[in-house]
Amino acid sequence: MTDSSNRENIIFEVPTEIAGSTYFDQQSYQEQYDLSIKDPISFWSEKAKAFLSWETLWNKVLEFDYHKANIKWFLGGKINVCFNCVDRHLKTHPDKKAIIWEGDEPSEIKSLTFNELHQEVCKFANVLKAHGIKKGDRVAIYIPMVPEAAIAMLACARIGAIHSVIFAGFSADSIRDRVIDSECKLIITANQALRGGKIIELKKIVDTALLGAPCVKTVLVHKRTKNVVSMHDGRDFWLEEEVKKASLDCPYEVMDSEDPLFILYTSGSTGKPKGVLHTQGGYLLYAAVTHKYVFDYRENDIHFCTADIGWITGHSYVVYGPLANGATTLMFESIPTYPNPSRFWDVIDRHKVNIFYTAPTAIRALIKEGDSWLKNFKLDSLRIIGTVGEPINHDSWLWYFKNVGKERCPIVDTWWQTETGGILISPLPGAIKTKPGSATKPFFGINPCIVNEEGQELSGNTVTGSLCIKHPWPGQMRTVWQDHDRFRKTYFTQFPGMYFTGDGAIRDSDGYYWITGRVDDVLKVSGHRIGTAEIETALVASGIVAEAAVVGFSHDIKGQGIFAFCILKSNVELTDSTSDLVKTAVKSHYGSIGVPDKILFVPGLPKTRSGKIMRRILRKIAQGEFKDLGDTSTLADPGVVQGILEML
Ligand code: WT7
Repeated sequence: MTDSSNRENIIFEVPTEIAGSTYFDQQSYQEQYDLSIKDPISFWSEKAKAFLSWETLWNKVLEFDYHKANIKWFLGGKINVCFNCVDRHLKTHPDKKAIIWEGDEPSEIKSLTFNELHQEVCKFANVLKAHGIKKGDRVAIYIPMVPEAAIAMLACARIGAIHSVIFAGFSADSIRDRVIDSECKLIITANQALRGGKIIELKKIVDTALLGAPCVKTVLVHKRTKNVVSMHDGRDFWLEEEVKKASLDCPYEVMDSEDPLFILYTSGSTGKPKGVLHTQGGYLLYAAVTHKYVFDYRENDIHFCTADIGWITGHSYVVYGPLANGATTLMFESIPTYPNPSRFWDVIDRHKVNIFYTAPTAIRALIKEGDSWLKNFKLDSLRIIGTVGEPINHDSWLWYFKNVGKERCPIVDTWWQTETGGILISPLPGAIKTKPGSATKPFFGINPCIVNEEGQELSGNTVTGSLCIKHPWPGQMRTVWQDHDRFRKTYFTQFPGMYFTGDGAIRDSDGYYWITGRVDDVLKVSGHRIGTAEIETALVASGIVAEAAVVGFSHDIKGQGIFAFCILKSNVELTDSTSDLVKTAVKSHYGSIGVPDKILFVPGLPKTRSGKIMRRILRKIAQGEFKDLGDTSTLADPGVVQGILEML
């Protein structure tokens, strides 16, 4: 075990295989970075012209007021995101593959050239129009990782509809909440989904969700499997049949740079999930620039990001960033261990993947399966490998570097959030030496700072505190859907004049950033962001739990596991099946990713005299640190803690 003070001294030089051939080296990164901070307006204005095609150029690059949480980029600029991701590449490379898709079974492979993608998107957009979808309408997408997912997103972008992708692992209740919050008129789904050889009844889940969501008038159902599902007359339509009737001609809508592009719900420490809103020009620019530079993207690269399109990583680095750059993006429907734990390596070798981007939780799961699963694979097409979603521990980083990157490929440990639209802190290949476990240095235009509890910015190096970002960047979220005040309060009030990330961080003696994890009640479970409040609500919805408190604990594979402390209702008896009942409730009210790893039925919860649950104590208990529970003097009833300890 190396302690953190030693860890910051473990440095990996830029691998010789890539040194000198990347877009940036140490010096040019520093020069460009300094320029981008000194004059962000010129920096982003120049990038916006170089990376995107505009219908009309902007008349002002940036306008912002952090006190009111108002942020606008490229004011007056007109653009279409779909045109930028599809149409404009038809001139230069119509027959290049835009999407390579590998289904749940390794034998199931499809690809679409930019030309074919263009046709599919136009037809899909016409189907949306035929069902009454217009600019500004909200469309929900609840679908597995199939090409239709990307086509649906681009079709919305083409006609100016706002998509809201809902991860296909969420339950009916979670879909209903999201669909109602943004008043979606139409939902795109599939009859069933396939994942790791298992069938998931997507359409049935949607049917249940829509029982309480009258705003949805139309359901478009992609036929993923041959199995029949029930269809509601007048509401449900088979996508394939609708597409057959649609024309290939669909002019794109000219959008204002600040018109909404999509809503993506994410969890906070309190209340219902927030509808994070991203807009057109700024978002696309930031996704494209970070995709090119962080992954050192080259024209003929095959880019494989394993994230699901239900998360921001899928939006920015499966769909929008790569396609804006005219790249070939690989969409993968399955899981890393199906049919066996060689699957990723097999996909990489067969499709000659150059850029591979995945989550630390997947790496940890594969380490556990043993190195023999890599034995028969060359992985020699790989040039850049990356991670995202949670801190990667030292040993997993080394394993990834050695066994997957063969010590030739730099690892880009990319730190960012749903709210940030794209990567904010990450090494740039060829420019930044890496330190296992550190996201290293800020991207161009990003000005991170570390702030103490009193809100003072800590200058210099070797400091620890809350991570904030000072100046706006184009990919930043613009508001919480229908709740601007929540946006302002959540991100701009703790530390006035800065964007507060919710993460803790260290800046070490070399100015490298180390993300230490969330400072709020948000968990990262297998890289998924889960609000403890939402799980507590689902636990209470079981009908047998009177009160619940959820905290995280360290988990070997998941990073964080979910520990639920529950008080049963007084008339409920604890039996062998009580845990299962409660788990089923979380599954149906939230989704499987929120099911607690451990449940403890307790007589009471530790509270302050004002009735606030002391999570600090529960976290210690969940972690197994019974001896040092910290200061317990503010507990209203110290006997409660004793009562919990006796249950263990
Ligand atoms: C939270 C954001 C980033 C897109 C996918 C997740 C954590 C993310 C890292 C990293 C340490 C990381 C943070 C952040 N996180 N990347 N490289 N190192 N922590 O987006 O679901 O919005 O979650 O994920 O805690 O705040 P998200």
